[in-house]
Amino acid sequence: MINVALIGCGYWGINYVRVFSEIPEAQIVLACDASEERLRVVRERYPLIQTTANYEEALNSRHVDAAIVATDAFSHYQIARQCLMSGKHVLVEKPLATDVSDSESLIQVADEQKRILMVGHTFLYNAGVRKMKELVSRDDFGRIYYVHATRTNMGPVRHDVNAVWDLASHDIAIFNYLLDAQPVWVSAVGSKVLGGEQEDVAFATLGYLNEVIANIHASWLDPNKVRGVVVVGSQRRIVFDDLNNVERVRIYEKGVSPAPMEADSFGEFRLLVRDGDIISPRVEASEPLRNVTAHFVECVASGSRPLTDGYDGLHVVKVMSAIQGSMNLRGAPVTVG
Ligand SMILES: NC(=O)c1ccc[n+]([C@@H]2O[C@H](COP(=O)([O-])OP(=O)(O)OC[C@H]3O[C@@H](n4cnc5c(N)ncnc54)[C@H](O)[C@@H]3O)[C@@H](O)[C@H]2O)c1
Repeated sequence: MINVALIGCGYWGINYVRVFSEIPEAQIVLACDASEERLRVVRERYPLIQTTANYEEALNSRHVDAAIVATDAFSHYQIARQCLMSGKHVLVEKPLATDVSDSESLIQVADEQKRILMVGHTFLYNAGVRKMKELVSRDDFGRIYYVHATRTNMGPVRHDVNAVWDLASHDIAIFNYLLDAQPVWVSAVGSKVLGGEQEDVAFATLGYLNEVIANIHASWLDPNKVRGVVVVGSQRRIVFDDLNNVERVRIYEKGVSPAPMEADSFGEFRLLVRDGDIISPRVEASEPLRNVTAHFVECVASGSRPLTDGYDGLHVVKVMSAIQGSMNLRGAPVTVG
């Protein structure tokens, strides 16, 4: 049995208590949160779990094998580092850290301590995103031209990080996964519409090799809740809508291709919209967070490398840092380090 401490039992973290209760090989033995109010909520729902306001109790406990870090983004580095140094395996929520060098340092500590470091890039454990990956990898998809993502909603507004660090991290992780690559450059603009110190809305363009471009619209003050990704390829197009439980993924066979050539007066290629089917493939119903958790437990038990390991987290942090740099320069292109 793998004994786990949960550090951070807020809006998101408390979900781990539920999903761990469905995984027989592991259990949460200690829930830590600086807020007494959050600990009370845990105790009310899960009376058998021990709680503490001081997460260092988890570090010092020989009965704790692993920790989930689901605190505010700015504290990820320090808490994850302490956990690794104490010999615990760590699953840290996205983003891995808020800085490239901190992310690199976590990878190094995990290597030195021979412990698993995994990042909660939940969408890579989403069955719809897995289906997209399967589809774009097939020969009949053709070449990927571009990808775009919309991640908007009215709130929740965060005060620790901006909308890019909070929301776009998911889309960057998805793009890198689908394209099996890291962007070379980014150009982004953002706006601090609510008068705070953080960008509340951002439009970021990412340039990958082979002229593949990608775009993200992230906002926490948009009237529509959208969680969507579109992949446009030479033979097919895919629409992923995470809020659509009936048709999470749609494949459009309709496309644009050269018309059978007839000599016309301009001697040019004519491109015609070609008709085709719209297909909704079956996407298995599964909870992404449960898949994340099961994968972490499996990696801890077997010593295998997580799909979203420290390097995956670092790649996403590098892109977000470049996006932040470009936003600071009002959209000037920035090379991804
Ligand atoms: N993977 C996903 O889909 C997903 C979704 C939402 C949030 N998240 C991530 O989860 C993390 C938490 O987000 P949230 O929405 O639950 O935030 P939240 O503010 O609701 O919860 C954070 C909790 O951490 C606690 N905390 C902060 N510092 C602490 C410390 N030093 N010691 C103990 N407790 C501490 C706070 O008291 C709070 O209860 C963030 O990193 C966020 O990016 C991931």
